[in-house]
Amino acid sequence: MATTTTDQQQQPMQALNYTNAAILAPMVRIGTLPVRLMALEYGADLVYTPEVVDKGIVGCERVVNADNGTIDYLSKGVSIFRTHPSEKSRLVFQIGSANAELALQAALTVAQDVSTIDLNCGCPKRFSIHGGMGAALMEEPEKLCGILKNLVDNCGLPVTCKIRIFPDRERTLKLVKMIEATGIKALAVHCRYRDERPREPGHWDRFKEIVDAVSIPVIANGDIREYADMARIRELSGCAGVMIARGAEANVSIFRKEGRLPLMDIVRQYMRKCLETRNHHSNTKYCVMQMFIEDTKSPYYKPLCEAKSFRAVCKVFDMEGELDAWIKKQEEHGWPTDLDSAPRKAAESKEKKEKANANVNSNLGKRKQDDLKEEAIVPATSATTATTAQVEVKQQMEEGAPALKKHAGEDGASSQPTPADTPQPEVDTEVETAPVTSTTLA
Ligand SMILES: Cc1cc2nc3c(=O)[nH]c(=O)nc-3n(C[C@H](O)[C@H](O)[C@H](O)COP(=O)(O)O)c2cc1C
Repeated sequence: MATTTTDQQQQPMQALNYTNAAILAPMVRIGTLPVRLMALEYGADLVYTPEVVDKGIVGCERVVNADNGTIDYLSKGVSIFRTHPSEKSRLVFQIGSANAELALQAALTVAQDVSTIDLNCGCPKRFSIHGGMGAALMEEPEKLCGILKNLVDNCGLPVTCKIRIFPDRERTLKLVKMIEATGIKALAVHCRYRDERPREPGHWDRFKEIVDAVSIPVIANGDIREYADMARIRELSGCAGVMIARGAEANVSIFRKEGRLPLMDIVRQYMRKCLETRNHHSNTKYCVMQMFIEDTKSPYYKPLCEAKSFRAVCKVFDMEGELDAWIKKQEEHGWPTDLDSAPRKAAESKEKKEKANANVNSNLGKRKQDDLKEEAIVPATSATTATTAQVEVKQQMEEGAPALKKHAGEDGASSQPTPADTPQPEVDTEVETAPVTSTTLA
């Protein structure tokens, strides 16, 4: 996967082009790197990451994987966010936050690898609402705008925001005008009320008044299930861009102007992309299962549910040969053959820290012996020598174990980080909280 010149040359503050843009919506668990790359290949102009909660990304360690050029943001061995330079110029990173300072820290953490920062103000899930995030922010416009303004003023990237609508039209228009005044570059609108479920029809009739009320580009989202719907909704509302979630979850080639490809082609292409990007096998299985969700009678569905490893998923789709070829190629290059480099990277990092600590201890032991010798000869300098040794130990701890230092005191457990590239138990959600599991290849 090569980095394009455009990616490298992009100006940080340049807003993305939303005119006639087809956009992959933020989708927890679904919108991981392989799906985003495929969406771009099939014609999406922009792609959003799944929502990542601010505390989940702040303090992450950035690691570049030498074998495939992907970049991981790791927290305690979990890849919270994986990207590749080839998507940077079209990548929007979505943050879940209820705190202006944390949102900014989250944005700054990933700023070098993304093009735009988006604030999720539409998630109606309990996890978000209880934390004052997502759609809860729409009830507190001052707070919402405070977070956006802090991002706009300080994060160095264009900022956008995704909202739902209120049943009350005037209230919605008042809110969007306030949001626009913060200086954001575009506004995505999911045309449902906070408490409306995905199966209830969205309110397409509400886009136009929002488009008319603001001068920034509006991105229309909700119930766009066919390529042709994009033109319809543009005509109806005058919106700049169109954003698709479930249509892409079911078949990401919805972005192809020539029409969708058969699902089996998509599944196989997706599996290849997962190998290429070393996607976590349980995320791979989850995403493939979602592709069959409307056809659970398919002969592939039951074996897929029962598959316990990447190889087992490959077997369902007769792709074991491709997996073996991939493993062989990895081995020839001396690259790892696991399907999630995060635990390996974490283990390597741990080993490095342990070595650094061992060095510190052995230096300390040596220093103590030297001190004893010196004490016997020149007692007056021993206190000075001990102090120097302590400073040295502190310096080595700081240099040798930066990640340890970073995570010390971090509120990881209570912050509920949202690992974007890790397993996922549930379907109907906008926010994920996932356990760390080991990776099985064969
Ligand atoms: C699996 C899934 C995960 C989602 N995760 C997010 C998310 O992380 N952030 C967000 O703003 N919306 C999220 N959404 C909502 C979608 O972005 C979108 O607003 C909604 O599904 C309506 O669009 P659609 O009719 O095209 O599906 C998610 C939706 C789905 C189906």
